[in-house]
Amino acid sequence: MGMIAVLGAAGAVGHAIVRRLAEEGRSVAAVTRRPQRTFPEGVEVRTADLFDPSSLAAAFMGASSAILVPGITLSQAALPALHDNGVSRLVVFSSHNLSIAGAGASYKAVADAEARMMASGLAWTVLRPTLIYGHPELGAGAALLRMAQRLPVMTTPGLGLAWQQPIFYEDLARIAAWAVDAEDALGRVIAVGGPEVLRLRSFYAAASRAAGGTGFVLPVPRILIRLAARAIGARFPLTLEQIARAPVNKHLDATPFLPDGVRPRIGVEEGLSRLAAGLAAHA
Ligand SMILES: NC(=O)c1ccc[n+]([C@@H]2O[C@H](COP(=O)([O-])OP(=O)(O)OC[C@H]3O[C@@H](n4cnc5c(N)ncnc54)[C@H](OP(=O)(O)O)[C@@H]3O)[C@@H](O)[C@H]2O)c1
Repeated sequence: MGMIAVLGAAGAVGHAIVRRLAEEGRSVAAVTRRPQRTFPEGVEVRTADLFDPSSLAAAFMGASSAILVPGITLSQAALPALHDNGVSRLVVFSSHNLSIAGAGASYKAVADAEARMMASGLAWTVLRPTLIYGHPELGAGAALLRMAQRLPVMTTPGLGLAWQQPIFYEDLARIAAWAVDAEDALGRVIAVGGPEVLRLRSFYAAASRAAGGTGFVLPVPRILIRLAARAIGARFPLTLEQIARAPVNKHLDATPFLPDGVRPRIGVEEGLSRLAAGLAAHA
């Protein structure tokens, strides 16, 4: 088995993939814009930026496989360098929102990037995660928990009845590390979510408890939440698009095939309390 290059290796998901592969004794190149981050012993650290094509040429040298963690519309810029370096196997990250009716026009670029990856001539796997949470760098989950820490009562946009299936970042990393050389993952789009399907209001209640609150959640009409988002601007934890999509179910249509040892196992209570601990350590 050859070297695996992980692009986005200093981020929450990428770093967890590198750790997992290193634990498995795999040969790993950590490709990152932040080479100063500490990586496991034996991992080769390389600096690259997708906006700097010349930096990509050396990033994949000697690798037979690549896991590209950045958003897929960005990651497609790596395709020429992957070809030039003879990389033959590719795992990329897309989004489960693509499968959801009403995901919106902004996902057209994501669909186009997926199609380009599939037509690249490389042996590909596309992972489509639901909401990824559990690390302070993962914005949406961290913003939710900070909101729970600040507000006396958590509020949901609307009744909060839509189904969710958030995935803890280390669970996702394990799936990516498996997919990179699993026959079963070859040429497949795999939707990945966590082990629990729960309503949005239950997820918010779990965030409240993880933040030391009561778990009480107050539904607020979406029009009021939209007004608050407009007034507060970028610091508001939800975007207008997220508020519009609040009533849309986001759980997986079917449980993907995943072997034992790879299936997600961190439930939201544990995942959110680990996030709370991470936020406290970063404060
Ligand atoms: N967060 C979610 O809830 C969610 C939901 C569904 C799908 N996804 C997808 O899952 C993947 C991981 O999510 P994420 O939120 O961790 O993504 P992210 O924060 O947008 O990016 C992950 C990593 O990509 C690298 N990166 C970003 N810009 C780069 C550039 N110009 N050149 C090279 N590397 C660059 C960075 O790693 P370095 O710091 O090491 O350079 C960054 O930590 C992404 O593809 C995302 O689109 C995320």
